[in-house]
Amino acid sequence: MSTPQPRPSVAAMPAYVAGKPPVERPGLVTYKLSSNENPYPPLDGVVEIAAEAAGRVNRYPDAGSTELYDALAKAYGVPAEELALSTGAVALIFQLVSAYCGPEDEVVFAWRSFEAYPIAVLAAGATAVKVPVTDGGEHDLDAMAAAITERTKVVFVCTPNNPTGTSVTQTELDAFLAKVPEHVLVVVDEAYAEFVRMDDAVDGVATYRSRANVVVLRTFSKAYGLAGFRVGYAFAPAPIAATLRAMALPFGVNVVAQAAGVASLERQTELLARVDDLVAERTRVVEGVRAAGWDIPGAQGNFVWFAFDSGERCADFAAAADEVGLMVRPYPPEGVRVSIGEPEANTRLIELAGSFPKG
Ligand SMILES: Cc1ncc(COP(=O)(O)O)c(C=O)c1O
Repeated sequence: MSTPQPRPSVAAMPAYVAGKPPVERPGLVTYKLSSNENPYPPLDGVVEIAAEAAGRVNRYPDAGSTELYDALAKAYGVPAEELALSTGAVALIFQLVSAYCGPEDEVVFAWRSFEAYPIAVLAAGATAVKVPVTDGGEHDLDAMAAAITERTKVVFVCTPNNPTGTSVTQTELDAFLAKVPEHVLVVVDEAYAEFVRMDDAVDGVATYRSRANVVVLRTFSKAYGLAGFRVGYAFAPAPIAATLRAMALPFGVNVVAQAAGVASLERQTELLARVDDLVAERTRVVEGVRAAGWDIPGAQGNFVWFAFDSGERCADFAAAADEVGLMVRPYPPEGVRVSIGEPEANTRLIELAGSFPKG
């Protein structure tokens, strides 16, 4: 007897591999450095406001997320109709690809990059065009521009790139955008924007405001430490933002997440000071690992990247990290990503870099 079958492209979708929790080791504090989470718990006021909102969960949330839209509009000086909220930036990625692509269409992105891209592309029945990153883990924007065909509907630029940690500059992004046809949507995924410290850094807000085909993705999951609440947002020209809202599941951003988002924006200065602390730890890790002889790429997110030449080496490094109580994220065969965590976890990573054979 035949059974219901999903579309072939759905059946071909790879599973999203989430970072694992650390293995318990008696006598040793273990750390989860496998999901690019913020190691700091939410600020006190945020937790209280979220808890108070939880007392109202018998009611549906505000379907229009009015307060959170207003708070974001005020924080970034943009009109609310140029914003789209959803249940994490990952949901916006699915909404974008589903809205703009069908079975005949192609989506161009760097690889390796964020693993949700190929899944979202297959979910829409479209074709993924993966353009290898350079040896240094950077986007090859010339090759990405060359990969655009008449079938291309969407291009992702992930900056900082998950998992390699590198960022494009504004000059590089502008040169790339100048080559992209106006009907192709360029999604600048800035999930880690708040961690960027570099010259000529991308100004996502100015970039989307000066183009009709650019969407910028941001999230409360990383710098704001609200990964468990699932809130992300897009800056986009009003017609694209309206499309994204139309593609969202009704009532997706729940009542607790909305309240926590508003409360976090009210405490932006305090939260961003914590980001400075994480950036200082990132600098310590990058310098420590390089001093131990590793040629790791410049890190602009809350994570560092160890490139390897085989799946076996990735697995060995992950196992060695596990031995010292660190759960990291292998991406065989290319490398291993390690999130910046608590100072003790970062110190252990530097020590591991000193003792693990470079091959
Ligand atoms: C590059 C990038 N984009 C988007 C996301 C999704 O973030 P969220 O769905 O938690 O907002 C992530 C999360 O890891 C990411 O690394």
